[in-house]
Parts: sequence; C-alpha cells; structure tokens
Amino acid sequence: MTTTPKTTANVVIVGAGLAGLFTALKLSPQPVTVVSGAALGEGASSAWAQGGIAAAVGNDDTPDAHANDTIAAGAGIVDEGVARLIAGDARQRIDDLLAYDVPFDRDQDGRYVLSREAAHSVKRVVRVQGDRAGHAIMSALIATVRATPSITILEGYEAQELITSGDGPQQRVTGLYLARADDAAARYKVTDLSSAVLATGGIGALYRLTTNPSHARGDGLAIGARAGAIVSDAEFVQFHPTAIDVEQDPAPLATEALRGEGATLVDASGRRFMVDIHKDAELAPRDIVARAVHNQIATGNGCFLDCTQAIGQEFANRFPTVYRRCMEAGIDPSIEPIPVAPAEHYHMGGLRTDASGRTNVDGLWAVGEVAATGLHGANRLASNSLLEAVVMAARAADDIAKTVSSDTQPTTGTVSRERSTHLPDFGARAAGLAMIRETMSSNAGVERDDARLRQALATLKDIAEAGHGDPVIENATIAARFIVEAALRRRESRGGHARTDYPDTDPEQARSRTMTLAGLTLRDSLASGELFSEITAGGGTLH
Ligand code: SIN
Repeated sequence: MTTTPKTTANVVIVGAGLAGLFTALKLSPQPVTVVSGAALGEGASSAWAQGGIAAAVGNDDTPDAHANDTIAAGAGIVDEGVARLIAGDARQRIDDLLAYDVPFDRDQDGRYVLSREAAHSVKRVVRVQGDRAGHAIMSALIATVRATPSITILEGYEAQELITSGDGPQQRVTGLYLARADDAAARYKVTDLSSAVLATGGIGALYRLTTNPSHARGDGLAIGARAGAIVSDAEFVQFHPTAIDVEQDPAPLATEALRGEGATLVDASGRRFMVDIHKDAELAPRDIVARAVHNQIATGNGCFLDCTQAIGQEFANRFPTVYRRCMEAGIDPSIEPIPVAPAEHYHMGGLRTDASGRTNVDGLWAVGEVAATGLHGANRLASNSLLEAVVMAARAADDIAKTVSSDTQPTTGTVSRERSTHLPDFGARAAGLAMIRETMSSNAGVERDDARLRQALATLKDIAEAGHGDPVIENATIAARFIVEAALRRRESRGGHARTDYPDTDPEQARSRTMTLAGLTLRDSLASGELFSEITAGGGTLH
C-alpha cells in the first residue's frame, strides 16, 4: 500500500540531480523537501556526466578567459554579465564540492587534473575519477544529503503541475501536484509552500536519440510555463556529436575529452573529415561537429570516433565508462573505431531566470538545465552545465533563505492524497511519447526547415488531443511545442539551431527571445501575429 508522504518544509525542490541536491544542501539547516522521480542518483543526467566541471583553476587560466570562451561558443547571444558571474564563482563552488567529499583527480603535486574539451582555449575541465565525474560527484552529494537531517526526500514522485494563487504580478506559487507510477489512482497535493524550485533537467527524452535519462521529458519547462513562467531560447537544443551509435536508448556517450586527447572523427573509409570543415577540426564548437557528423551519416559515409592511436591500450584505465559501454556492445575501442551519431544532449533554452535563479512567478525558482540564465546562448560550452548547476543552486539557495527569513516564518507544507482526475492509459501514453520523439527527431533535430517544423506543430497538436488530458502527454507536448514554435520563428542559423532554409547567421537576430504559454495560446486564438518579446543579449534583464 502506498502511504501518504510527508514534507517537513514549505520549500520544495523538484528534481534530485546536481542542481536540486546542491540547492538543498546550501539551504541547510533550513528544512527542505526534495522530490525525485526515481531513487536518488538514478534518473538524473548529472550522474551520467563524463567530462567534469569547467572551472578556471589552472595556473594558465582566469575566470575572464573562461567567460570569453563561453561567450564565443554561445554564438552571439550569451549574457556576458552572467558568463562572468558564473565563471567567477567557479572556484568557490569547487571548494564546496571538496567539502562535500567529491574525490577530484589530482596529479603528483596535488594539483587538479584538467582536461581540454571543444572550444575551451586551455585545459579547464576539472576531472573526477576519470570519465566517471557525474557519478562520483552525485555519489558524494547523495551521501551528504542522506546525512543531512534538514532534507526530506520523496523518492518515486513526479511533479505534474504547480498550484498558484492570484493573477498577473500578484500570482505566486503555493503548491504542487505530484504523481507516482505505482499509484495511478491517486495524485498528491502539496500545499502551504513558500517556495518551489524546479530542478527537473532537460528535454532529451523528447528525441529518439538522446544521451539523457528517460525522465528528461521537459516536464519542468511545461509545469513552469503553465504557471506563467517565461520561457527563453527554446529553439537552442544541443546535440552531442559522439553518442555511441549501438541502438541503445538512452545512447551511451563517448566523452568529448577523448577528442581532447587526440581522438579523430573518420568516415567509413577512414578519412578524417573535420580538418576540411574547421580550423580546430575535432575540437571545433560542438554544434559544428554535430552537424558535420550528421551530414556524414546522412550522405551514407558513416561516422566513427577513432581512439586507437591517441588512447589505444590506455583506454580501459583512462576512460572506464566509455570502455565498458563499448565492450558491452561488442566494440573494443582500444583497437577499433567507435560508431557515433549526434544525440540530443542539452537544452540551452528553458525557464528564464535572473542571476538568483528566480523566475518571473513569485515563489518559483529554476536551476540547472531547466533554467535559461543566459549563460549558454545558442551553444553551450562543454562542461559548463555542471558548473552552472552548482553556481546557480548556491545563488538560488541564498535568495530563498533571505526571502524566507525576511517575510515568512518557516512552517510545514502538507501533502494530501486525492483521487486522480485522470486514470492514465499507459499503453496510449507510451505510444504518444514515442510519436513525440519520432516527430522531434525528424522535424526539429540537428537541421530544421519551415515545412518540417510546421508539420511537427500539427503532429504535436494531434498527439496532445489524443492524450485526452494525460498530464504526462500534456507536459511533453507543451515542452516540445515551445521548441518547435521558437525554431519556426528564428529565421536564421545560429549555434545549435540550424535552418536549411535560412543557413546564414543574421546579425539582426543576435538576441535572446522569450515566449509564454499564454502568448502561444492567444496567438492560436488569433491565428496570426508574432507574440515574442525580444531581449538584447546582455540587455540588463538579469540582476
Ligand atoms: C562530454 O563529456 O563530452 C560532455 C560534456 C558536456 O556535455 O558538458
């Protein structure tokens, strides 16, 4: 029998990846409840990160150089102030992680081991247990969280909807509906919240080929948008060029650090093609490499990551995760090239926040991949995501702590079990989700055009209608629709957004764009008009 869960706090954090857990720890000893869709450590992309955390801790590096690389990779729409702020906070957050017992790799002199990834001008990615960075960081944090009495964990619960009170500027978050997979007849209502933090991760599971866990369906994006939160830059989806292409779902990753060590991309005949495309060859910005790999595969040439010369017999020791995943698929990467394909990896867009992780909805913060702070622009610099997660989690925690102590008394939220308004048809749900993934990969993937995007919108509408109010389908189609609508309206190519019908980058469009669900709904009813507000990069919307 499922018992009614308890919260011990009026602050609820939805999501238990790096951003969610770090927020909870930083709020300690203030009581918080963390809602996790799966057992802690499972179902969060953070645990699968291989590269490490980008941070200017090397002797040849500075936060300014890090910010400059981030701005260059972001293809014209990074918020410079945010990039400098996040690069500047990096060392303190690495120190925090050390205090939480994260076992960073050190050289013989005790210095951090750093690796180089694409579009970084120096070795800057702080490594943890070789290519097991995400797993090692999350294990240390989970142990600390479990030993922290102020943190209550609800495992196996997924958020479905935020509850708000008031309208317009008075609107604020007061509660949340949860569901659990093994109790389809019920939903759980959490009330008396002072603050909700969405830390739900990305949108990879809206695509057929992804490196993200199956929970990453864009729920947080949709839930926030339904509560009135502004969505920014939704069209910018990052495809990792070297997912291991062995028909596994999710696709295992061959970390970019392999290319940092000299691994090369070759076609089926062994020809190294990146040298003809970009001066930095395999270490060109990720969007450029992903498109090149996509084109090799589309033209029937195939694509492989050849590590045999650069890493060879060292492979098992230096990249144990990639080695294991390859060997499981019958490929020995020390002696043969790895088949690779681009896979959805990271969403640069998300719920727009300020520099404290606040959304425009009172009482609602967003941290980690679900948020759009302005750091990533049109193309995220490798290994900036774990950094952004910890920096923004700390800033959000600081902000929430001030809010709670200044104008509310900490109380206890309550949870009640209600009869579900919707009994899901799990077969129909699975079919709907599969159709969304097919649609997004075919029509809103590495390359897009007007006709395919319009087709995607029509199909998403049909899938939403066929879902008959299933909250999972509703949230997934809303998140997908934001991506497609934004992609349709950005009539240029920039970073992770490549339009075959608008292949050039248009300097006039070098700005971040925002949308709201209310705006999209209104436009539907008017059937015309452009309801985007536009924000010039670095234009002072963040404080
Ligand atoms: C990788 O290790 O290639 C992924 C790093 C990242 O996405 O930041």
